[in-house]
Amino acid sequence: MRKLLPILGSHPGGRSAMTCRYRCGDACFHEAPNTSGNEYAGDIIAGALSRRTMLRAGAVAGVVAVAGTGACSGDSAGAVTAGAGSAKGKPAKGLRFTPVEPNTADKVTVPEGYKQNVVIRWGEPILRGAPAFDPKKQTAKAQEGQFGYNNDFLSLLPLDGGDGERGGARRQLLVANHEYTDEVLMFAGYDADDPTREQAEIGWAAHGLSVVVVEGESKSGALKAVPRHRLNRRVTATTPFEVTGPAAGSRWLRTSADPEGRTVLGTLNNCAGGTTPWGTTLHGEENVDQYFANTEKVKDEKHRKRLERYALKGTDTERKWERFDDRFDVLKEPYEPHRFGWVVELDPYDPDSAPRKRTALGRFKHEAAQPRLTRDGHAVVYMGDDERFEYLYKFVSSKRMRRGESRADHEHNLTLLDEGTLYVAKLTGDSPADEIDGSGELPSDDKEFDGRGKWIPLATGDRSHVEGMTADEVYVFTRVAGDKVGATKMDRPEDVEASPRTGRVYAALTNNTDRGASGKAGPDEANPRKGNKHGQVLEFAEKDDDPAARRFTWRLFLVCGDPDDPDTYFGGFPKDQVSPISCPDNVTFDAYGNLWLSTDGNELGSHDGLFGVATTGPRRGEVRQFLTVPTGAETCGPIVQERRVLVSVQHPGEVDGATVEEPASQWPDGPDEYVRPSVVSVWRADGGNIGV
Ligand code: FEO
Ligand code: CA
Ligand code: CA
Repeated sequence: MRKLLPILGSHPGGRSAMTCRYRCGDACFHEAPNTSGNEYAGDIIAGALSRRTMLRAGAVAGVVAVAGTGACSGDSAGAVTAGAGSAKGKPAKGLRFTPVEPNTADKVTVPEGYKQNVVIRWGEPILRGAPAFDPKKQTAKAQEGQFGYNNDFLSLLPLDGGDGERGGARRQLLVANHEYTDEVLMFAGYDADDPTREQAEIGWAAHGLSVVVVEGESKSGALKAVPRHRLNRRVTATTPFEVTGPAAGSRWLRTSADPEGRTVLGTLNNCAGGTTPWGTTLHGEENVDQYFANTEKVKDEKHRKRLERYALKGTDTERKWERFDDRFDVLKEPYEPHRFGWVVELDPYDPDSAPRKRTALGRFKHEAAQPRLTRDGHAVVYMGDDERFEYLYKFVSSKRMRRGESRADHEHNLTLLDEGTLYVAKLTGDSPADEIDGSGELPSDDKEFDGRGKWIPLATGDRSHVEGMTADEVYVFTRVAGDKVGATKMDRPEDVEASPRTGRVYAALTNNTDRGASGKAGPDEANPRKGNKHGQVLEFAEKDDDPAARRFTWRLFLVCGDPDDPDTYFGGFPKDQVSPISCPDNVTFDAYGNLWLSTDGNELGSHDGLFGVATTGPRRGEVRQFLTVPTGAETCGPIVQERRVLVSVQHPGEVDGATVEEPASQWPDGPDEYVRPSVVSVWRADGGNIGV
């Protein structure tokens, strides 16, 4: 069912050098900034469960309690019966599609019997007064009213009193991140050494977030944008944000433009995110280091080292924004970088509300933030810090979510992410240490990579739990706090999300080619491969099924790569029956509890894709590829509704040497048109449920 294609590139994670440069400021080409000497240790047990709330038209209504048991430590692969489907011998309900073969087609390839449409493209006008897209005459003003560049995270929120989950004609509210800009593919004749002010300002306007109402066609899963709707909104790199939580007003956040340290202009590099049970969206500010110039020239060593711990480096930046706004130059505004690298919360139903930077969730390269609730209503947010050898975090709110629909209830819920405890993860393996030799061979004791973990508290409100650091310092320099308490260095922790069926939590660890390199952390049981090109998916279960627990058990659910390679593992499922998968990045779940994974980079020669995999029942670990994206693109923001799959096609055509004049992709509109990052909807031609 699969055929492997020739290996194409050698950039880490299979990305083009252009993607590395524009997206993450060549994060994989410089020394990983975690040079701390902390090592591995750990502890205890658990089970699984959960409950998840569903959104209802902006306020919160029903809570869906879900079934499912099975202790992570006890059940062997395949021994847990799924709450939904998984009849023996048949694919899990929700995964009964013919897998897409690995391929390099310059299009979105979907399974047989499925259809697709482009929902919205970079530059489509969404606000009143915004002009039609004309890339040759683009202006910052036009871009401020148009859909931004490089859509990543997506959220679909219900409108008109319906849940919008079933497709059809109902309107929904689409929220999208715009992670970064690729000027070479946006501007004809772009001169990277001498960008114009207008180009910089277009870049500011093309970053950020979009909120746009979308409408379904009556007899398909197609969606289209509703321009000029009163809820449509753009948030950009210059939109005022309110800083909230325990570090608001901290001396580390003050600048000459904002001596109070409470108002920041804009958000940058929003990668993935989450949708809260109280009807807001969360957005992770990720590779923000690349926007700030002149770290190398900072004389104050303590300050420079703190910047370097966050990967800031060098002199000029790629986009040269420091030439047009002093705040992007750390010699002129030393603390401006501290004002990025947060989780931001947006209330998309309130277009006049200020978006907020939530300092209680710590500052690092936030990939995503998907909350869940404890049984008694505390919000728990798992978070990955996406850089080599960085950490996994968890925030537990001190307040409980109110389930009422009054304005007061909503205002209360908007404070949930401002008070609580921030934790970092430490994982310990339980197999003989000499068997974790970096080869990826399963240890002999229990034939899987597994062990125990604990959540180490870093700060609670204004109280620091880290010796030698104030609470402010813990929030603003969270990586340093993780170093001090000996958190486990992971292989690039990305999206983390709990299964609504079992309560088990899944974290994508995308890759880490430096694992085991000279002078770097060696393999451990949770990160067991040296030179890890393909990544792994960690599964963990909180003790007593309590998301607020301090202890958990974990195991690797997938060790990704070519299933023919002995260092791969697919939840115990026969490896000759799975799709190859490389560099897992985003995670989400369908209504049946299947895990869906999108990939970023592919070291197996195929284009990136979206994959589904059962996590319980006899098909546990059977990875099936659902779609692939065009040349140079990454699959992001997956949403799997009952009758519709939505993906972000990010950075299509981003191949080394490609320009506007000589594009590497013709997607989505064919030759002679600009390559445009876009959102795509996929549905079953016969109107049936996805994958069933
Ligand atoms: Fe923007 Fe970690 O991917
Ligand atoms: Ca083990
Ligand atoms: Ca990502």
